[in-house]
Amino acid sequence: MTVNVAIIGASGYTGAELLRLLACHPKINLVGAYGMKNTGKKVSEIHPHLRDIIDLTIEEPNCEKIVKKADVVFTATPHGVAMKLVPGLLRENTKVIDLSADYRFDDVKIFEKYYVKHESPELKGVYGLPELYRKEIKLARLVANPGCFPTAALLGLAPLVKKKLIDLEHIIIDAKTGTSGAGAIPTESTHHPVAGANVAAYKATTHRHAPEIDQELSKLAGQEVKAHFTPHLLPLIRGILSTAHVFLKKPMTNSELLEIYREFYRDEPFVRVREELPQVNYVVGSNYCDIGLENEADGNRAVIVTVIDNLVKGASGQAIQNMNIMLGFEETDGLRGPALRP
Ligand SMILES: NC(=O)c1ccc[n+]([C@@H]2O[C@H](COP(=O)([O-])OP(=O)(O)OC[C@H]3O[C@@H](n4cnc5c(N)ncnc54)[C@H](OP(=O)(O)O)[C@@H]3O)[C@@H](O)[C@H]2O)c1
Repeated sequence: MTVNVAIIGASGYTGAELLRLLACHPKINLVGAYGMKNTGKKVSEIHPHLRDIIDLTIEEPNCEKIVKKADVVFTATPHGVAMKLVPGLLRENTKVIDLSADYRFDDVKIFEKYYVKHESPELKGVYGLPELYRKEIKLARLVANPGCFPTAALLGLAPLVKKKLIDLEHIIIDAKTGTSGAGAIPTESTHHPVAGANVAAYKATTHRHAPEIDQELSKLAGQEVKAHFTPHLLPLIRGILSTAHVFLKKPMTNSELLEIYREFYRDEPFVRVREELPQVNYVVGSNYCDIGLENEADGNRAVIVTVIDNLVKGASGQAIQNMNIMLGFEETDGLRGPALRP
């Protein structure tokens, strides 16, 4: 079976990554690439690395026309855009995977507090973290692909939160990201002369990904959880390293903790539990999430380190993993490439 796929937001960074990965997917045809300001340009003009690989022109999105030719649509657009397009895309049999925050929140009021007024709050997406929601994703027509920081934080914390082995009131997540996390439009803080030899904390207590992390940790724990999340910008292009500090209810050894992680992720194709603390270049360019940990000598505080590529497992790779699940493909189709190291 070959499935026709369209990408709205194909001129951006996650759009480029969708195109790059889907170009090597064995079971799909790329049938449309859409954007806004770059309408009329060839994909290879905007993404020169895709020359002679993808021969599409960026068009203005028209949902009626898109659903006539696409079975699956990725919306890789800034928040506030998909909410206007998705109702039209779901009118036919199309399946949609949205990479923005528009459908990630169970409570639209929380979305509106951190983002903008919702224009299609009646539509609900399945939260697209396969390691937690594979069964629901399989049946979904609209998947809300998780944020990049939440992907790293949640995969790092899920085993301990689900088993309630830690103090749920004192979870500290200290995360580092590269500049591609901010998308293709240049900003002062991501401009190379400013960011190229710098390290900076930002939105130390107010980042939009905090309520998304809290929503999912609360569901895992079966009670309200409020973690303490602070992001930092590093002079990397890709990659997130997320360090979670947690306090164990009962002292445990490193090997006991590792065993819990190994068991939790035993059948997961893209989560690797490691003996050592993982580094960003173990995963950059790939759909892997690597997790390592270290416990303090008294066994009370554990430090969980999680790494992902923000554009792959943190966005487009995970979106393709979700598509594979929705379509009944092999979950790893198009995603088997290892990381780029060095
Ligand atoms: N970057 C990451 O690491 C990352 C990770 C996880 C999730 N995300 C989320 O993924 C989404 C896309 O992020 P990005 O980094 O790829 O952003 P980006 O590089 O700024 O790209 C945005 C894309 O959306 C298109 N677009 C904007 N407004 C549009 C409209 N009204 N109609 C149609 N297309 C429109 C743009 O087209 P033109 O260029 O033609 O104007 C561009 O192709 C965002 O919601 C972001 O939060 C990003």
